[in-house]
Amino acid sequence: MTKNTAQAKPLNVLVMAAGLGTRMKSRRAKVLHELAGRPLIAHVVRTAQSLDPRTILVVVGHQAEEVEQAVLAEVGELASFAIQAQQRGTGDAVESARKQLENSDSLILLLSGDVPMIRAETLRKLIEHHRATGAACTILGVRLENPTGYGRIIRDEQGRFEKIVEQKDASEEERLVREINSGIYCFESKDLFEALQRVEPKNQQGEYYLTDVAEILNSGGQKVEVVTHTDPREVSGINTRAELAEFENLLRRNAIRRLMIEGGVTFIDPSHTYISPEAEIGRDTVIYPDVAIEGKTVIGESCVIRSGARITNSKLGDNVTIKDHSIIVDSEIASNCSVGPFAHLRMNAALEEKATVGNFVEVKKSRLKRGAKAMHLTYLGDATIGERTNIGAGTVTCNYDGVRKHETIIEDDVKIGSDTMLVAPVRVGSRSVTGAGSVVTKDVPPDSLVAGVPAEVKKKLK
Ligand code: UD1
Ligand code: CA
Repeated sequence: MTKNTAQAKPLNVLVMAAGLGTRMKSRRAKVLHELAGRPLIAHVVRTAQSLDPRTILVVVGHQAEEVEQAVLAEVGELASFAIQAQQRGTGDAVESARKQLENSDSLILLLSGDVPMIRAETLRKLIEHHRATGAACTILGVRLENPTGYGRIIRDEQGRFEKIVEQKDASEEERLVREINSGIYCFESKDLFEALQRVEPKNQQGEYYLTDVAEILNSGGQKVEVVTHTDPREVSGINTRAELAEFENLLRRNAIRRLMIEGGVTFIDPSHTYISPEAEIGRDTVIYPDVAIEGKTVIGESCVIRSGARITNSKLGDNVTIKDHSIIVDSEIASNCSVGPFAHLRMNAALEEKATVGNFVEVKKSRLKRGAKAMHLTYLGDATIGERTNIGAGTVTCNYDGVRKHETIIEDDVKIGSDTMLVAPVRVGSRSVTGAGSVVTKDVPPDSLVAGVPAEVKKKLK
């Protein structure tokens, strides 16, 4: 009977993220620091979302607005917020959510904004255990080689839970305990908020400790359970930049390992390659050292990515070659294209099949159609380049008049001579040719040769 009612209770997730995180030695709130390209808090709320809770309530304080933005960007409407103006401890953080949750008659899963590696699977097990035992509080614990800094789980002679003692309040004997509190718990909403009223800041730090709730419930005869997890890294909080770098390294290594073993991707030097865990890469693609692949990038099969390339939130087809030191951001490259060395594609640059972009070419918000080429020293902004069209060395689309951006359209099979300035808005008709050094200020009809400053039609080609 009790079990059934407990199971029927909705799940609410509460995330503590108000602290500054002084050990980061930063002006930015700790939960805004990035791991694998996303703020710590974004990792936590994404995992929470996968548990399908009724709401994800985030306690914010330091840089509340930015933290809220980061949460909303990740989970949108599922999120709501409680403000903790002054950080007086984890107990006080939960206290600030009292209004929203006290009468919710729910199961509250409490997470920390600075524990980003926690997996949904582990949380599901915690919730299951909590529901099955009918506990008032279930703590996720773990045994650590070095428990320094963490709250220790203290048990009585029978091995039953007694209390959690923080490092700073622990006796020498208690400090030897290696079983620690991960800071992740399940609570019955009613029991949590009742016990919380009795927490006092009587400790070394003068803080309201949430951990005291467990002791209060236990000594009041309520059931407190500990689920002991086996993977310490998963439940470790990030407190310093050194730890942040360790986790970054771990995530990166895992992502690369997965791609090598499951994905058939070759890494010439895995320890010097930066791959976002969200990236997808096709088989037989070869990645050289010093490559960074960021965000939700998708790379097809049999591509070659040479050293020094950075590819962010972009999509590449099959058989694409990215030569050394090219930067590709928010762009799309179809199969059989070649880019670089030293090329820069950004803001929705698009290359259709077999297009080529060469040395020192910048492409912004422009499309190169099938087989188009821009091989050397060129800027293409707000432009459309037709099929098989060749853009000569040193060509510039003069897209900005000082106030507004204008469009350049170059149709199919055009030959743009070296050092042509295309003063937008302007259109060059199919099969036309511009002479070297032309300044094109007016539309060029199809099948014409133009040259000069400003360029004039010299002859019709057909
Ligand atoms: C806490 C636990 C400790 C546990 C450890 C696990 C307490 C008293 N101690 O310690 O037993 O081993 O986590 O990582 O709970 N926060 C607020 N408002 C505050 C204080 C903290 O929102 O007033 C947030 C922080 O931003 C952070 C989280 O709560 O995301 C944990 O706070 P932190 O100060 O890191 O707690 P610890 O000292 O690590
Ligand atoms: Ca912590």
